Amino acid sequence: MARDAQTGAWFIVAIHSTKLGPARGGTRMRGYASLDAAILDVLALSQAMTWKFASLRFPSGGGKAVIVGAQELGSEARRLLLIRYGEHLQQFQGRFQTGPDVGTSPADMSVIAERGTPHVFCRTREKGGPGDSAPLTALGVQAAIVDIASRLNGSPSLDGQRIAIQGVGSVGLALAKLLLAQGASLLVADPDPTRRACLQDPNVTWVDPDRVLASPCDLLVPCALGGALNHITLPSLRCRGVIGAANNPLATSADAAELHARGILLAPDFIANAGGAVGCTGIEALGWSPERAQTEVETRIREALAETFSIVE
Ligand code: NAI
Ligand code: PHE
Repeated sequence: MARDAQTGAWFIVAIHSTKLGPARGGTRMRGYASLDAAILDVLALSQAMTWKFASLRFPSGGGKAVIVGAQELGSEARRLLLIRYGEHLQQFQGRFQTGPDVGTSPADMSVIAERGTPHVFCRTREKGGPGDSAPLTALGVQAAIVDIASRLNGSPSLDGQRIAIQGVGSVGLALAKLLLAQGASLLVADPDPTRRACLQDPNVTWVDPDRVLASPCDLLVPCALGGALNHITLPSLRCRGVIGAANNPLATSADAAELHARGILLAPDFIANAGGAVGCTGIEALGWSPERAQTEVETRIREALAETFSIVE
């Protein structure tokens, strides 16, 4: 943990495990109610990264970073902060390796890597990286959705399935397009009014963000921030399956037991949303082609879910 002298922003890096390989995880940039809240979040998120890579049998450990207190910066001050953050990461000598997350983008990754910081994933294509992780994340979430639909319906078809998506940012939007192409009908919510223009389709119904979790549907996909499913929201769910696209969508592990008790099938987030991290790291660290990354993501997620359900069923 270090404080940036120029801006007062905090760089907080959490290394959860290096047992299977270097600790890898995104750098998140957002506001928190307190520094303690940021530390708790980064610790939980770093553990989720360890579980993510291990579940998909990928040779990587888990970590995460947050930059706190930088929301108000102008674009040039923000760019200089990211360069200093990149320099800060060099002390880990590859033990922690980062990529994009909520509040950071491939363009930001290019800036972080600008002064020679190695192992920064998902830089822009112009800078030699594979670009955004969201398309591979969405592809993996779709594979998890098909798997859960198969278990619930005895058929992998999504034709006519009613799927609710909470949050149509980078991942949610890419996912919505994949699901519409498979014939699903969507209920979507996002408090950002600019998102509506990105998703105009007769099979999309926009719902109030406060009501999306309680909307009657076959499958629910939390795709915004963590902790959306908690003791307040869980009793109102009216779905048969939940697919974790957001990291840590359950507020506590007791919430998973509550879902189980209510007969709602859960595809855990650390499996369902692993496609971006595993696919992009596979491309950049293991030399996978983009086509191979897609196949690996879909296959590994299906296998991880099969293994998980073979234990719990
Ligand atoms: P994003 O920031 O592009 O999108 C999040 C969207 O959720 C925004 O459009 C925001 O307005 C919306 N939102 C916020 N609060 C909401 C609410 N109460 N109800 C409905 N919508 C709300 O982020 P991105 O990249 O799409 O990530 C979404 C989630 O998926 C995050 O939890 C992230 O950690 C997780 N994730 C992302 C991966 C990636 O490759 N981008 C990989 C794995 C997980
Ligand atoms: N945001 C990604 C995740 O939560 C983190 C990531 C992306 C890490 C790409 C490495 C490479 O899974």
